[in-house]
Amino acid sequence: MVTKENVLEALQPVLEPTLKRGLTALGLIRDMMIREASVSLTVVLHPDSMGQAAGVEQDVVNALSGLIEGKPHIRIRAMTEREQAEAQGGQGEAGSASAGSQAKAQEAPVRGHGAGLERHTILHPESGVEFIAIASGKGGVGKSTVTVNLAVALARQGKRVGLIDSDIYGFSVPDMMGIEERPVQVGDKIKPIERFGVKVISMGFFVEDNSPIVWRGPMLGKMLRNFFAEIDWGELDYLLLDLPPGTGDVALDVHQMIPQSKEIIVTTPHATAAFVAARAGAMAIKTNHEIIGVVENMSYFESKATGEREYVFGRGGGGKLAETLGTDLLAQFPLGAPDNHPAEPDFSPSVYKADSEIGREYLALAQTIIERCGK
Ligand SMILES: Nc1ncnc2c1ncn2[C@@H]1O[C@H](COP(=O)(O)OP(=O)(O)OP(=O)(O)O)[C@@H](O)[C@H]1O
Ligand SMILES: [Mg+2]
Repeated sequence: MVTKENVLEALQPVLEPTLKRGLTALGLIRDMMIREASVSLTVVLHPDSMGQAAGVEQDVVNALSGLIEGKPHIRIRAMTEREQAEAQGGQGEAGSASAGSQAKAQEAPVRGHGAGLERHTILHPESGVEFIAIASGKGGVGKSTVTVNLAVALARQGKRVGLIDSDIYGFSVPDMMGIEERPVQVGDKIKPIERFGVKVISMGFFVEDNSPIVWRGPMLGKMLRNFFAEIDWGELDYLLLDLPPGTGDVALDVHQMIPQSKEIIVTTPHATAAFVAARAGAMAIKTNHEIIGVVENMSYFESKATGEREYVFGRGGGGKLAETLGTDLLAQFPLGAPDNHPAEPDFSPSVYKADSEIGREYLALAQTIIERCGK
């Protein structure tokens, strides 16, 4: 079976054209997925190299031709300014790690890993990480869908994003993002799984055979604390938390654990859903969490044939909730499953493509969040 290490090793000779160093040594191979015999990955290039993207793609294909059958699925994107600074600043660092294999160099991402970062400080208000908890009054309104897609959209805008699936009984994020691999321990920390540029941790990673969790009370809080302390998040701009539905123990725990967290409340347009969601909002206010705004999901169904909108679950719930909470309605997402196909190499059941209608709406929401958070 082909492993990530095999792929990284095979890619060692492929150079970043502008920086003239190996893609793997620079940590520029991201989001690698191996599903049966097919490999998909993202190559991040210096903006000056984008003109040579086709050549790099061919180099990658050639390098992998001895390893895998068929063509790898390769996405290429340009570095953000920050990634550029980090890649250039990190060159010496990666180079000095010559004793380790190149695969190891990839393990230790260029960005700041070696800088003696105290990872548990992620909860420290000065860590600079913007925490956003996504809450709802009741289940099934699309909280996890919104969290996952907002995280991916923020990453698509070049932000460094982490996602904690803190619904530790009803975890769903791994399935929704199509994650099949499990995190590995590196040193005394666990590395989150990177998918679509988002670093993900979920209770689902630590459970065998999808068996239900039977812990109670203090164990829950302990697990959550571990998600902050034992995970090697590296440097992040945003850490999104998918909260369990309602206003129960775990939700309260999270509220208290991260006083600096901001919140987004998700509701459907139905009046009672919005009423129930107001309780989640009240909880946020009580614990002094700033509410960034309300997201209304499943707002309407738009007929492909006529373009006509039907308000299947009623109308106005999101706006009313925003008014009640003294905040804004940030987005209204229509009904519609992502147009993904299981045969695609980077299949994920719940992630909307960047160039789809809803995908673009998520990019707009990400932009709003970036403006409001000033990061
Ligand atoms: N806009 C949408 N259009 C169509 N289906 C949607 C939409 N948003 C969510 N769904 C679907 O509705 C179901 C519930 O969504 P999701 O799991 O995101 O909700 P949740 O609030 O996180 O639920 P839970 O309370 O169980 O955690 C899922 O099957 C999801 O795929
Ligand atoms: Mg959920």
